[in-house]
Amino acid sequence: MEVYKKHRPFNRFYKTLDEYNSSIKHEVKLLQLLEREFINEPKIDHYPFSKLIDTELCTKHHKINISENKYRGRVGDCHILIQTHCGKNALTNAEHVKIQKNIQPINLNNTIECIINNLRNTCILRTDLHPGNLCINSLGQVSLIDFKITAEIASMEYIKEYYKKPNLKDFKNELYNYVGCAESDHLIEKSLTSFYFKEKNHNDESPPQLIKKMKWTNGRFFKKSPWSMLYYF
Ligand SMILES: Nc1ncnc2c1ncn2[C@@H]1O[C@H](COP(=O)(O)OP(=O)(O)OP(=O)(O)O)[C@@H](O)[C@H]1O
Ligand SMILES: [Mg+2]
Repeated sequence: MEVYKKHRPFNRFYKTLDEYNSSIKHEVKLLQLLEREFINEPKIDHYPFSKLIDTELCTKHHKINISENKYRGRVGDCHILIQTHCGKNALTNAEHVKIQKNIQPINLNNTIECIINNLRNTCILRTDLHPGNLCINSLGQVSLIDFKITAEIASMEYIKEYYKKPNLKDFKNELYNYVGCAESDHLIEKSLTSFYFKEKNHNDESPPQLIKKMKWTNGRFFKKSPWSMLYYF
């Protein structure tokens, strides 16, 4: 089985080492909770979340001279979460549209329903649903990854409201209007392109930086409803 080793270094997003350590525990807990409580409803042919295999401490990021890198002046641990490999994320997949190397999802509607049912059943409020966090493997199977601090346990009342299915026809129209493309277009690919051209000074920035920004600007729109996951591919 192919694995993905996700490095979670102690960085400037954490105020203290305690906060960092509890965020790792939190991620482990949520991944285990999802697996333990998994309900295959509607029935699909794969497990639609990354599975935690093991954790280990990283020796590469540990005790490096942090001032030289992006972690800005803090020395600390780096935990590695060893997970099942879920393929490439929907942003990368969208970048492959132009060269016709993008993968088409299989059974997408049921997969998204199944993902949302499981988030609902476990009361996991998953707020950072964007195309960087939904992956597709070479078989076209789609899985949700990344259960760090932006996923938390919430009250059933809130959860029900958050995961309520919108009128999909209206919602889809809203998304396509927002990006300004036709239904026959690849929504995420167009959204990347329109963002690229809307952005001033984009010559100074590398595509990965732009994609990161896109996650937080255009991304906000896709985050309006978890059901936007239906339109990432
Ligand atoms: N289990 C996995 N299988 C395949 N790819 C993964 C997996 N976990 C993470 N990735 C890849 O790493 C990227 C970042 O991982 P993740 O979303 O878990 O962390 P993040 O906190 O958003 O980190 P980063 O700051 O590195 O984007 C994902 O967009 C995906 O491409
Ligand atoms: Mg992520």
